[in-house]
Amino acid sequence: MTDRSPVIYPSDADGVAAVARVLREGGLAAFPTETVYGLGADARNDQAVAAVFEAKGRPVFNPLIVHVPDMAAAEELVRMPDAAVTLATAFWPGPLTLVLPVRPDAGLSALVTAGLDTLAIRVPDHPIARDILRAAGCPVAAPSANPSGRISPTTAAHVVSGLGGRVAAILDGGPCAVGLESTIVSCVDTPRLLRAGGLPETDVARVLGQHLSEAGPGIVAPGQLSSHYAPRGRVRLNARDARAGEVLLGFGRVDGALNLSPSGNLVEAAANLFAMLHQLDQMDAKEIAVAPVPMVGLGVAINDRLRRAAAPRHTADSVG
Ligand code: TXA
Ligand code: MG
Repeated sequence: MTDRSPVIYPSDADGVAAVARVLREGGLAAFPTETVYGLGADARNDQAVAAVFEAKGRPVFNPLIVHVPDMAAAEELVRMPDAAVTLATAFWPGPLTLVLPVRPDAGLSALVTAGLDTLAIRVPDHPIARDILRAAGCPVAAPSANPSGRISPTTAAHVVSGLGGRVAAILDGGPCAVGLESTIVSCVDTPRLLRAGGLPETDVARVLGQHLSEAGPGIVAPGQLSSHYAPRGRVRLNARDARAGEVLLGFGRVDGALNLSPSGNLVEAAANLFAMLHQLDQMDAKEIAVAPVPMVGLGVAINDRLRRAAAPRHTADSVG
């Protein structure tokens, strides 16, 4: 593990080529997607994938999402039942990850799937990300580019402050448009929601023509432990105002030191969420109050992340 600063590349053809080369050669590179920045590694290279876990301080049993440039590349790695084809056709590229049976000859590092016979895979909707994936020519395993248990990065500066010299290269593509991680749906059998995220569950259900089954106990995404996405301060939810010593993160008319969306727009709130949690860390906020966010559309995923931010902290086993 080095402590040299990462090389930060601008969002142009040379930057894409440089980051793709780092990935091909087995290095770690962070790149923007529409959801959050990913910490990428060649998914076929055991050493590179192991370096991802090391850089994040992540427990190795937690499998990673593999990123590919299009559905054809996905089909080389996984079997796609009808429901998966329907969802991929409707939402790829986009903030949807599908968990699918991995092909035995996919050639992936066993660390990527943490030994499961399923693979989480997605096609990101970000032109730079897809250019990098095409130029790299390999499937890219990429968890969010933050230290395990900390807030996901939505800017290159967040990556620098979280991972610093543990990543060789960062492509700076500006802030992420969605700002929440992808929605994860398992299509191994009946479609199940494993993680609420940047694609509202209602959109998925509409395209499938059926409600999603809840993930029963034991079939949750392994990364979904309760303490996650945590700023350093203690978090109190559904606050209408700030108590003494608290910094209020507002929403809509419940205004605070920061406001996720003064107009009460959930898309804007999602895009701001992680950046504002980072800002609360920078402000050294010890006690954080968060305004209520309605449980509709992207509000479901926003509240999921906020609940994790407010959960009693794990230390050794918080992941992500
Ligand atoms: O938006 C995103 O999904 C971002 C960007 C970079 O693409 N990536 C991301 O990756 O959030 P990560 O590693 O932080 O979260 C991956 C989640 C974890 O909760 C993990 O447990 C789950 O996906 N997962 C991965 N493979 C799985 C599998 N085979 N079955 C069930 N869950 C899986
Ligand atoms: Mg994560």
